[in-house]
Amino acid sequence: MASNEGTSSNVKGTILSGMRPTGRLHLGNYLGALENWVNLQQDFRCIYSIVDIHALTTLESPSDVENIQPNIHEMALDWLAAGVDPEQSIVFIQSHVPEVMTLHTLLSMVTPLGWLMRVPTFKEKVRQMDETEESVNYGLVGYPVLQTADIIIYKADTVPVGQDQLPHLELAREIVRRFNHRFGDTFPEPQARLTEAPLILGLEGQQKMSKSLDNHIDLASTPEETAQRVLTAFTDPQRLRRSDPGRPEVCNVYSLHKLFSTEEDVATVHEECTTAQRGCVDCKRHLAGSVNAFLEPLRERRRVLEEKPDYVREILLEGGRKARSIAQETIGEVYEKMGLGLPV
Ligand code: TRP
Ligand code: SF4
Repeated sequence: MASNEGTSSNVKGTILSGMRPTGRLHLGNYLGALENWVNLQQDFRCIYSIVDIHALTTLESPSDVENIQPNIHEMALDWLAAGVDPEQSIVFIQSHVPEVMTLHTLLSMVTPLGWLMRVPTFKEKVRQMDETEESVNYGLVGYPVLQTADIIIYKADTVPVGQDQLPHLELAREIVRRFNHRFGDTFPEPQARLTEAPLILGLEGQQKMSKSLDNHIDLASTPEETAQRVLTAFTDPQRLRRSDPGRPEVCNVYSLHKLFSTEEDVATVHEECTTAQRGCVDCKRHLAGSVNAFLEPLRERRRVLEEKPDYVREILLEGGRKARSIAQETIGEVYEKMGLGLPV
């Protein structure tokens, strides 16, 4: 497999990002993260990880385990279909690089427990899972330490993430500072790079698009499924009759038009809505057409990949081999700095 990572694409630094294997991704995941990942490949050396070990921190039922492999495969298909390019970037599964767990353990020696207990995502997860800080898994407490290891084992300096991950990045920098201070300069302090995408609301127009709220459109959905889902979207609640003028500013269908329809169409929608020349059902059919046109090339690439599961596996294995060789070098350095290994 040809690869130019480390050469021409290595101009602005090293990017590391990851997603937990949750299965198929939706439009919100695409606009909020994946699109950015694809674009970053032009200027950075990019390493993208399917973080399956992180998925184990919140296991709740046996089916969660059964779902890991299919979820990894589905998510890999979406990444590749969206344009994550294994010729340019390293795409791999976290657990294929067991060295990250070694680094996690070693970093835990310089991470005060208080730092971890204060992370807002930790408190929130404990609440969500109906646990207490005493009953929760040790693994969940260490979630951000593992995330730090994910990043710094490749000496990545830039981490594209959403707002919710900022506390994890702050913690990663604190761990790095402590490590570097105690054992000598080893890791760069990783910086978050926020995605500028607008918040993508779900079809009911109230909350963020998400799988758990079932208000989403999967990247892999068929044209029929997409149209059906779009038709369930909420519109201007004050527009009761077809003859009432609508208010595009408060209508999520209009927001979605702005993301997926041409500028000209968006202007038409605005004009025809505010003058009651178009009905909401027609407006949604129009939107479904735009979303489908947008998704078509992704679907086409996905169809090809779905026929070749061994090829997708090989991409992930090859990515794992490349990632692992970088990780092993880092672990060698860390062992030496921390006084481990054979005496010399
Ligand atoms: N915690 C991240 C999330 O929930 C996933 C993640 C794990 C990650 N390791 C990472 C993101 C390293 C960026 C870099 O979205
Ligand atoms: Fe929303 Fe379109 Fe209906 Fe106007 S016509 S309220 S933009 S769905």
